[in-house]
Amino acid sequence: MTQNGRVLSDEVRETALKIVAKYPNKRSAALPLLYLVQSVEGYVTDAGMREVADLLELTPAEVLATSSFYTMFKKRPQGDYLISVCRNISCTHRGARKVFEALEERLGIETGECTADGRFMLEAAECLATCDGAPSMQINYEDFYRVTPQSAVEVVNELEGGREVRSVRGEPVKTSKEISYEMATTGLGLPTGDVEPARTIGGESPPPDAAPGFRPKEQGGGSGEPLGGSSAGRSPRSESGDSFRDARSEKEREGGDA
Ligand code: FES
Repeated sequence: MTQNGRVLSDEVRETALKIVAKYPNKRSAALPLLYLVQSVEGYVTDAGMREVADLLELTPAEVLATSSFYTMFKKRPQGDYLISVCRNISCTHRGARKVFEALEERLGIETGECTADGRFMLEAAECLATCDGAPSMQINYEDFYRVTPQSAVEVVNELEGGREVRSVRGEPVKTSKEISYEMATTGLGLPTGDVEPARTIGGESPPPDAAPGFRPKEQGGGSGEPLGGSSAGRSPRSESGDSFRDARSEKEREGGDA
């Protein structure tokens, strides 16, 4: 919390505004802004949600509804390192219970709790979709396979000692705040506006309204124009200013011609 009682400092607020500017509709920035709050507070606080609502001109209830739907947004302190051990059938058969016991003993907490110093939280996860690596564990969503009670404790020792730990894919384990900041700012440096529309993974051309920088008219606001001025080389400007209405009218005309 900043000195003026806000969650987001002026500098972070500037980042938030850049994130909002990436989207045709402000409300689309809700998830990255919730990540941004989590990167500051460690979890999504009520005050943080109110600030997101304020920035996006939404009600706090709308922001709460969004954040409560997704499990990656935490409603209480989750610790610097969230340790998720799979409790599903493959992992349980391969010794996950012993991994839980060893971690509970090492950390001095029960599963579902956070250590008093706020460094580690231990949770039981459903299938992590890495059953061939059973028993599987994740730390801040980085994978560890064929974990033993000893290797799980060793990972905790390394992190507690401030040493780098890498997942099975060679990725360094980062803190939950660092991960949240990365998620919030992903794509912030990508160009918007007067750039060629990319093809989708399937190879088909995207519809005009999906062209980079196109802004459909927002209910109660929004420009209805592409970003960056000239529309040359991009999708045609909406005739009525309401791209959804134009799309509907076009469909109706096509229906009438048939
Ligand atoms: S059962 Fe543990 S990863 Fe699938």
